[in-house]
Amino acid sequence: MTILSAEEALSAMPTRSAMPAVAGPEAYRAALTRLRDASRAYYGDGDSPVDDATYDRLRLAVLDWERAHPGEAGPDSPTGLVGDGAAPAGDVAHTTRLLSLDNVFDPAGLTAWGASLQRRLGHESAGGFTVEPKLDGAAIAARYRAGRLEQIVTRGNGTHGEDVSHVIGTIEGLPEQLPVPATFEVRGEVLFTQQQFETANEVRAAHGAQVFANPRNGTAGTLRAKDRPYRLAMTFWAYGALDLDGAGFIPATATHAETLAAVAAAGVRTTAETPAGLHVVATLAEAQRKVDEIAALRPVLPFGIDGVVIKTNDPAEAAAAGAGSRFPHWAIAFKLPAVERQTVLKDVVWDVGRTGVLAPTAILEPVDIDGSTVTRATLHNPADIRRRDLHLGDTVI
Ligand code: IVH
Repeated sequence: MTILSAEEALSAMPTRSAMPAVAGPEAYRAALTRLRDASRAYYGDGDSPVDDATYDRLRLAVLDWERAHPGEAGPDSPTGLVGDGAAPAGDVAHTTRLLSLDNVFDPAGLTAWGASLQRRLGHESAGGFTVEPKLDGAAIAARYRAGRLEQIVTRGNGTHGEDVSHVIGTIEGLPEQLPVPATFEVRGEVLFTQQQFETANEVRAAHGAQVFANPRNGTAGTLRAKDRPYRLAMTFWAYGALDLDGAGFIPATATHAETLAAVAAAGVRTTAETPAGLHVVATLAEAQRKVDEIAALRPVLPFGIDGVVIKTNDPAEAAAAGAGSRFPHWAIAFKLPAVERQTVLKDVVWDVGRTGVLAPTAILEPVDIDGSTVTRATLHNPADIRRRDLHLGDTVI
């Protein structure tokens, strides 16, 4: 749980419909500064409180202004950078750019994406689409040579990332040693499952470290922290792979689904193995039905998703569609509504926790989060309450 200042609480609005327009050039420059701070809080490991809805809302307001005033958009606007420019670039060159995804928010947006794909291809897509969850963690590239995991690199600015190989051996689904001597680069999302997140915060609290505000921030912080006296288990699912050193393990002619099947056969977990699955469909109308099915599963998934990703399955069509500076034209993220919400801390009660220790629990003004009414949240221990300077009546995320 995170505490907001009164100003942040007032400025944080949960839905796109509540999005304020950027009024003019001055407001635009101020919005860019806020967006830079917010993107560091969203993607980074800082505990600056910004809820997901606030971040999305601010980003869309800036994008709307930039679309309406193309000549006046700042050349250094975060919206023009991979990951909104939040992550440090690092010094490891990516084999090919590790890009982000463009977003749509409703069925009409998906249809419009289909039309733009058709324009780029010069004909209707014939190779079908894949539909898979958009995992809410951090993107990494992991390099296997002769079956051994040699290096893990963060997305960084898309062309260069940071070497975070110190987490090798702590990530479920990304084994240090494969049963086959394959050489390839796998790309995917590393995250804390809900269970891993709770364990991580128990370990953090026991070490006197500040608990993570949410699993995504915790992941970013854990990738970056090289000198912690404890190790925290995370989970990986691949959403792509490419050939490395000309080894030929991932053929250029493989469809997206076949690529992930090859990765899974080599012993690395893929989005196909998540409870949401990887679905191959012929049309975007079918893709929309799968989007709805995955969205309906969201409350029972053991990890966070912030959307559903639709990709061209055919590699020839993907190559023909190409990519822009920040995202490919052959894939699109169908974003789901943000699930962080603000509420008010009403009371604190003391419960006996799983380990038999008395632990404080926050009693909250009931708030609806993705179909569930949330009334309680763990506060870990008294030291954590003091560190957060938490008071009854505070607005919290
Ligand atoms: S494909 C070149 N598939 O979402 C396209 N990305 O907001 C590469 N993400 O940077 C991305 N789940 O870190 C893809 N099933 C999925 C994903 C996924 C999560 C992340 C990824 C990307 C970010 C964009």
